[in-house]
Amino acid sequence: MSVENPHKIDTAKLDYIIESNGGKKSNLIAILQKVQEEYRYLPEDALIYIGTKMEGLSPATVYGVATFYAQFSLDPKGKYEIRVCDGTACHVRGSMPVLNAIKAHLDLKDGQMTTKDGLFSLETVSCLGACGLAPVCVINGKVYPQMTSDAIKVILDTLLKEERGVN
Ligand code: FES
Repeated sequence: MSVENPHKIDTAKLDYIIESNGGKKSNLIAILQKVQEEYRYLPEDALIYIGTKMEGLSPATVYGVATFYAQFSLDPKGKYEIRVCDGTACHVRGSMPVLNAIKAHLDLKDGQMTTKDGLFSLETVSCLGACGLAPVCVINGKVYPQMTSDAIKVILDTLLKEERGVN
């Protein structure tokens, strides 16, 4: 069956991921994990393609699974994924000023979670289990303890400088 591909989803890559998981619907989660690794999120067109291509599934089913599990994101992620903990301990110790400083520094408007250049994405998460280090930020898996508005700006500027140096 041919499936329309209006947004340049690499269907050969998706086919490979599906086939390397035996094409089985019982492996759907593993397939979605691989797709997310590839794109850093789950593009809607990829979900439609998988739901159309795989036997026993539908786009609605694949979409339902993708939205059910917190590990999956349907929004594009940045090269640097910033998570700001807003659990109770972090909130009490000032996670919101840190979050607002990040938004202002990266010029993220309300509701916008990824910078236009795709470099940074931002989200709040609930307790990361490191309350003693509150407020905590995590960037690409690296934990930044006792964060302040000033410190996060320095970190962001350092990453930006590295990026400019590379490009
Ligand atoms: S509340 Fe932030 S790490 Fe626990």
